[in-house]
Amino acid sequence: MLGHKIGDRIEIVRYYSADVPQIDAYAGELNQVWTNLIDNAVDAMDGAGTLRVSTRADRDVVVVEIGDSGPGMPPAVATRAFEAFYTTKEVGKGTGLGLDIARRIVVDRHGGTINIDSRPGETVLRVRIPVRAHDPLPRAVT
Ligand SMILES: Nc1ncnc2c1ncn2[C@@H]1O[C@H](COP(=O)(O)OP(=O)(O)O)[C@@H](O)[C@H]1O
Ligand SMILES: [Mg+2]
Repeated sequence: MLGHKIGDRIEIVRYYSADVPQIDAYAGELNQVWTNLIDNAVDAMDGAGTLRVSTRADRDVVVVEIGDSGPGMPPAVATRAFEAFYTTKEVGKGTGLGLDIARRIVVDRHGGTINIDSRPGETVLRVRIPVRAHDPLPRAVT
């Protein structure tokens, strides 16, 4: 889906650990999370760099990391990054909703966590999703 945006000057490094179990989850919503995170990573690298996608199991949690070799987030940006409508991108480029939506899906819908690990030259967005959902999964709020 993001192929057209990634281009051929961004190297994609994938590490999918073999021990990752199947989980109870809203697959379509989680795809939106990965899409939003990769979209941000690619924006940050401005056309060239390394995109890292990794998955692993950590006891009863699945950990997914999206990393980029972009300039990183200054602390003032990182503290506000999950706010709805917060964007540092020019008008028309960013809505400021990508991380807000990702946080809602991960935290509110799956009981997981999402955090930012960022320094100049390397930013990692780390998502942790419990393998077993609290039964039943929270119902959709429409
Ligand atoms: N991988 C990243 N590297 C650097 N900054 C980032 C990254 N991901 C998000 N950000 C910062 O967080 C802000 C909010 O992200 P997001 O909610 O997706 O909104 P948008 O992408 O529309 O600006 C971005 O404007 C950017 O400043
Ligand atoms: Mg975004």
